Order: sequence, then structure tokens, then C-alpha cells
Amino acid sequence: MSLLVKATLIRATPSSRLAALHRVSSVFITENTLLRPHASLIHTNGSQSNSLTRKHVHEESASGTEGRHREDSSSTKQGLTSSDGVSTVPADVHGDWVLFHPVYSSDELKAVEVLHRDAKTISDKIACNLVKLMRWGFDFVSGYKHKSIPPNSSMTLEELKQGGYVLTEKAWLSRILFLETVAGVPGMVAAVLRHLGSLRLMRRDSGWIHTLLQEAENERMHLMTFMTLRQPTWLFRGLVLGAQGVFYNLFFLSYLISPRTCHRFVGHLEEEAVLTYTRCIQEIESGRLPEWTDMPAPEIAKDYWRLESNAKLLDVMYAVRSDESTHRFVNHSLANLNPKTDVNPFAFREPDMHVKGKKLGFERNEAEKYVQESHKLLQQGRVDPESK
Ligand SMILES: [Fe+2]
Ligand SMILES: [Fe+2]
Repeated sequence: MSLLVKATLIRATPSSRLAALHRVSSVFITENTLLRPHASLIHTNGSQSNSLTRKHVHEESASGTEGRHREDSSSTKQGLTSSDGVSTVPADVHGDWVLFHPVYSSDELKAVEVLHRDAKTISDKIACNLVKLMRWGFDFVSGYKHKSIPPNSSMTLEELKQGGYVLTEKAWLSRILFLETVAGVPGMVAAVLRHLGSLRLMRRDSGWIHTLLQEAENERMHLMTFMTLRQPTWLFRGLVLGAQGVFYNLFFLSYLISPRTCHRFVGHLEEEAVLTYTRCIQEIESGRLPEWTDMPAPEIAKDYWRLESNAKLLDVMYAVRSDESTHRFVNHSLANLNPKTDVNPFAFREPDMHVKGKKLGFERNEAEKYVQESHKLLQQGRVDPESK
């Protein structure tokens, strides 16, 4: 019987699974959780991965992934809440409460490639063309153009901006903020629907829900990070409200009809996100976004991705692009599976960025092999005498 079907994981008793998982993540627990107890929540959740979780930590990173990032502003907070526009977390509240997410080594950050998956089936073509249509519509409404700078151009930066060759920092930020408000929707909708399906059908979920929730939160953390750079106008907030109302409901209905098409759609959307952040990184590195060249990374980003204390915004862009590449890989992989029966191959661990950054996703047979490898790791954990 296929390992993907009907979850091999179900066969383990809860206690033996826990012991096995503990063994798989033992190096990580020793290196991170024990040495850095304040980071325990991230890393305890991270126990479901192996190589991903061992390479995180820059010890200089501050604590409090969501808790302290508003140090970037001068707002005052007391007691349990504050009136700040982005966060109600008082400045003296410390701690991490985010779900598992990968943190990348420096060579992983550079391993991401811009990729595009050619549509093979009719539903693939629908998903791909919908993303193209959305991208065209968004570019049109936001006035974004991909005009390439003429070779040997002697135009100044100002002339390039006026000629529509280069976006300003403000325009980049508007684009990024809007995209991130949309990007956080699919993972949550899919997780909710799978959760409800599990309750309704009284059947286990095969490990999809957590990965989907992690993706949704990861996108929301992108938004929280970039919100430290700019407070949007009421018009912008109105546009986000409208877009969320439409997109949430459309995605909800679409996911009920065809989850695979929806994951393919998200896979293509994430291809665009990788492209967008790659272009943004190129603009910063070529000096065409001077305000961002040496801008320090927001505190929330240093906490979340475990960046060095002197990290720059450019480092954050690389980390966000790697996240988008993870979403691209995960969603294209999930779109290759049977959502009713197959185990999520990323329920316990994920490949590193040398795979996720250079490959569009696992085909079903590759996912099965990956599940078998995870199964072996669990088995090794179980037979290790120290785990008894
Ligand atoms: Fe994102
Ligand atoms: Fe994404």
C-alpha cells in the first residue's frame, strides 16, 4: 500500500510518535531550546523538522517575534494593551508565539531561482491563467510597469523614475503590502476547510492543516514586518478590505470545488512573489532604491528570521523571498497529490532551500519517497535506546 495513502503516521501510538519526534529533533533541542529558552515556542514547534531547525540561530537576535517589534516606533504601551495602529502588545511583553517556520543559512538565501511551471492539464491552465490575469490587473491598477532600462542608458535615477523604469521605495512598499494582505488568505482558508472536513467526516487530516496554517502565518508576518516601514492610508486600507472580502469568498468556494486547482493557483502566485522580491533585491543591490541600501532590518524581522543584530532590510528581502519559494514548492507539491487521501509530505520536515529554491515541487512519486525517508527517521528515533 502506498505510504502516501492513509497516513503511515496514524499507525504510531501518540506516545511513541512523540518519543520518535523528540529523537529526530534532539540536536536542535540541545542547540536551541536549551541554550535559548526564551525562543522555546518557535523551536518546540520546529521539532517537526530536522535540517531546517538546526541552522537558525544568531545568538544576537532579540526575543519576541511579535511582542517587541514595535520598538521600531515611539509608541507608549502599558498593561495589557496599547492604542498602537499595528500592535496592541505592550513593549514590556516579551516572547515568541509564532508557528514553525524555516530560518535560512546564508547560502540557502542565495539559492532561490525564479522558476515557472508549464501548465499540463486543463485545471493547471485555469490556475496559471487566473494568476496571469490577476497580475495583469494588479499591475494595471497600481501603474506598475516592467520597462527594462535601455542598454548604455545615461539617465539619472530621477529620470529613470519619471520614465517608469524604476519604482520608488514608496511604490515598492505599497505593492508589497497589498500583495501580502492577499497572500495570507489561501493557507488559512484551506486550513479551515480541511479542519471542518476532518470534524464533519470524523476522519484524520493526514497532516495538511498545520503546514497550511504555517503558510498563512508566515505571510502575515511578512505583512507585519513591512508595516513597520509605512502606515497605509485609509484609501489603501479600504482597498485591502474590499480585496479580502472578494478573494476570501472566491477562494473558499473554489477550494470546496477543487483543492488541487487552488494549490496550483497558489503555486503560480508564489512564482510571481519570488519574481517580485527578486526584482526588488536587484533594485536594492544596484543602488536604485537608495533609501533602502543601508536601512537596518526591523526588529520584528530580526526576531522572526533570527538575523544578526546588524542585519539590513536587504537581508529581510532575501529571507522573505526564500519563504515565498517555500510556498511555491509546497503548493505545487500539494497540487500533485490527492487531497482526499494523501499524507502531507511536509508534515514532519521540509527540504532545505537548495531543493525548494531550485525545484518547483515534488511529483507524487517523489513525495512518496520523501514520506518514506521521514518514516525511516521516525523509526530510527524509536529504536534508539536513549528515546525509551
Ligand atoms: Fe509573502
Ligand atoms: Fe508566499
